[in-house]
Amino acid sequence: MKKMQDDILKVLLSEEEILAKVQEIGRQITEDYQDKNLLMVSVLKGSVVFMADLMRSVDCHARIDFMSVSSYGSGTKTSGVVKIIKDLDLNLEGYDLLLVEDILDSGKTLYYLREILKERNPASIRIATLLNKPARREADIAPDYSCFEVPDEFVVGYGLDFAEKYRNLPYIGVLKPEVYEK
Ligand code: IMP
Ligand code: MG
Repeated sequence: MKKMQDDILKVLLSEEEILAKVQEIGRQITEDYQDKNLLMVSVLKGSVVFMADLMRSVDCHARIDFMSVSSYGSGTKTSGVVKIIKDLDLNLEGYDLLLVEDILDSGKTLYYLREILKERNPASIRIATLLNKPARREADIAPDYSCFEVPDEFVVGYGLDFAEKYRNLPYIGVLKPEVYEK
């Protein structure tokens, strides 16, 4: 049987490297939000693994919530169409919102999402992203916390998918071109 790992061309970021950096960002967030009313919002599904590690590295009172938007379908290019699939449970009034994302690519998804959430009167909104691909930015948005800058390559693992697969890969890798070209 063909294994999931056989589809990976190379490991870009190892499990150890990722965790060390996530914990560093977690310590920074802990300092910055000590006297705030932190609500961490994970944008499903790509950020679940990052969220799970990041929230455990944040040592101050925090609440969590989840939201799901669609932007990509199952391909590798953004459609520009963003739709709320699952909304938040909490009312945002008074919260210091930290949007937790897997990757800031064109930035269109998060730009749009931030506009919607601003209207709900949170005390503040910041963005924490695991990966940042500044070379591909189209929207006027930048992360407040970013773990790694990555080159313009399609990456998978640690929550990130290709056609809904590879999210369970414990590290971040680059797919073999034949996987997405077929
Ligand atoms: P944006 O609107 O172009 O910034 O798209 C953000 C979303 O696209 C992310 O939340 C991911 O789901 C997806 N995405 C962008 N680049 C990659 C990648 O290299 N691997 C996996 N998913 C990606
Ligand atoms: Mg995705």
